[in-house]
Amino acid sequence: MNLKIAVLPGDGIGPEISEQGVAVMSAVCEKFGHTVTYEHAICGAAAIDSVGDPFPEETFQTCMRADAVLFSAVGDPRFDNDPTATVRPEQGLLAMRKRLGLYANIRPIETFDCLIHKSPLKDELVRGADFICIRELTGGMYFGEKYQGNDRAYDTNVYTRLEIERILRVGYDYARRRHHHLTVVDKANILASSRLWRQIAQEMAPQYPDVQTDFMYVDNAAMRMIQEPRFFDVMVTENTFGDILTDEGSCITGSMGLLPSASTGEHTPVFEPIHGSWPQGKGLNIANPLAQILSVAMLYEYFGLKQEGALIREAVNASLDQNIRTPEIQVEGGAHYGTREVGQWIVEYIKG
Ligand code: IPM
Ligand code: MG
Repeated sequence: MNLKIAVLPGDGIGPEISEQGVAVMSAVCEKFGHTVTYEHAICGAAAIDSVGDPFPEETFQTCMRADAVLFSAVGDPRFDNDPTATVRPEQGLLAMRKRLGLYANIRPIETFDCLIHKSPLKDELVRGADFICIRELTGGMYFGEKYQGNDRAYDTNVYTRLEIERILRVGYDYARRRHHHLTVVDKANILASSRLWRQIAQEMAPQYPDVQTDFMYVDNAAMRMIQEPRFFDVMVTENTFGDILTDEGSCITGSMGLLPSASTGEHTPVFEPIHGSWPQGKGLNIANPLAQILSVAMLYEYFGLKQEGALIREAVNASLDQNIRTPEIQVEGGAHYGTREVGQWIVEYIKG
């Protein structure tokens, strides 16, 4: 296969983990006889600084030309504490999602046996937890009409039938490929938009008789994820709830640095870690590259290249088993490996 990849390193630790993602991507290509070409593009604060736009037209065109985007992270503290800033790095991420039509964000929540102790939850609760959160990514409050005055402000949580149907279909498709259990997470006791979600899901459920559909209010789901994470197989939810629940989900795994995601929809799919740009870690060679590297595994799997994805997962597991770990997940007294060293170890493993 010939793959054309748009690489968007972004801000903070983004460039460091991006480099390792690209190195792993190349090693796997070489191993399996694929060819890959990369085109780098700017986004986030880096793009605001150089062209005043967090998702410049040129970056969009680079993404459109590619088969897939390998995205890292955006965000910069210079903008976080300034409510008057009119351009923000995060707007670049939202623009990318909207313009590429990436309505389905797939966030797997898995555990690694050797890291169970890193979870703040009890071992017996999290062991074996393995579910996918499917987050709607181009609708809801993130994109609804907004207003910010001095004394009043609002964000509207709009969803159309089309948007709800297409994301529920993704949910059902994943449930069919897994354990045939779909949980629709909403707030239908309060929100009209949620009631439409629930109505449409109830209409669609009979088309998927092999899937058990259940409904859960988001507050209850937040609790259930902590009390009994193994309950879930596939969860589907709106943009805002998915944002919040997947951060919570990362605690099941034990580190934000381990969770990859795929965003798919109308145009080029994007593969990215769920974590942010961690500006405090920038340039220190301490960021965990595994979420980015596992995003590369998801990229291969998206194109049906299962063995390639499996080899990356095997390499990641081996690195964890052998304690080749960045500081936040290293065992007490264990050697410290940096972003580069972990990435390099995985590359060597892949080369075999
Ligand atoms: C995420 C992030 C983004 C979001 C931010 C950086 C805009 O938290 O991908 O979960 O809220 O969607
Ligand atoms: Mg988030």
